[in-house]
Amino acid sequence: MNSENINSVTALSDFAKDTLRGLSAEPKRLFSKYFYDERGDAIFQQIMAMPEYYLTDCEFEIFRKQGENILAEMPDASFDFLELGAGDGTKTKVLLQMLLTQNVDFQYLPIDISQNALNGLEENLTAELPDLKIKTLQGDYFRVLQDLKNIGTRPKVVLFLGSNIGNFAPAAAVEFLCKMHEVLSPGDSLLIGADLKKDPAVIQAAYDDPAGITASFNLNLLERMNRELGADFDLDNWKHWETYNPVTGETKSHLVSKRAQSVHFSTLDRSFDFAAWEAVWVELSQKYSLSDLENIAAQCGYEVVKHFTDERGYYADSLWRKV
Ligand code: AVI
Repeated sequence: MNSENINSVTALSDFAKDTLRGLSAEPKRLFSKYFYDERGDAIFQQIMAMPEYYLTDCEFEIFRKQGENILAEMPDASFDFLELGAGDGTKTKVLLQMLLTQNVDFQYLPIDISQNALNGLEENLTAELPDLKIKTLQGDYFRVLQDLKNIGTRPKVVLFLGSNIGNFAPAAAVEFLCKMHEVLSPGDSLLIGADLKKDPAVIQAAYDDPAGITASFNLNLLERMNRELGADFDLDNWKHWETYNPVTGETKSHLVSKRAQSVHFSTLDRSFDFAAWEAVWVELSQKYSLSDLENIAAQCGYEVVKHFTDERGYYADSLWRKV
């Protein structure tokens, strides 16, 4: 099916359309944004608690130990604190708590694709931080970018944490961050959480843990296609395979077909054939060096105020400003 035909099937969900498009491509691919159904969200919480998945702990450490220094760089008077892809907001709570203690005049505007996640976040934060001014905004990153100019009237501090930028291909990351620069006003800031290039063994273990939690996270995408698209994937016929390329920083998750097989999608009235050991790429988790980040900032016209890194130098929250 070509992309024109796919787009004309308007009754299909985005998940169905992207799956059709991805499995019709050569080589086949699937998209990690569809990891996050209810079960995927729950497995991702387990990933963040795994000892091998250092990213979450690193960002926590940076906020706990250097949060005051990060906040010292914020505008003096009042500002809007926006968070893209806020999720459960656990790490951000550390910064919010510090701002409230300092009696700073700010409003927290978490933005997420999932209204469900936003409702939970609002409920939690209102209970734990009753003085917090919070206004949730539902939408995807790209729609939010278009609206950013009209959100709030005060200087903006945009948070893009959790290495979410790593799930963009590098060229798309540059495009996104440059578009963001266009819609920000001079003096606005961006705090971007990025996972850094490091010992390949450390990265490999974070995405291929011995308990198989990451494998079940990726395999859940097959189960989701079974549940929502009427597919008949047999999970025993698939394995998770992770590769880290220390030259490019690309960390890629694949689902590999252990045998020649055909999978039927009843809701799509389509079958797809997979050869033995055919690999389907499902996720990119790009790793950067500090100089890679500086190059992107310069390309888009940001000034790098400071990189805040954890003690092991695994992860950076990099503060950029539009001048
Ligand atoms: C959400 N994102 C930044 C995670 C990452 O590290 O790429 C998703 C993830 N995939 C496997 N483990 C975690």
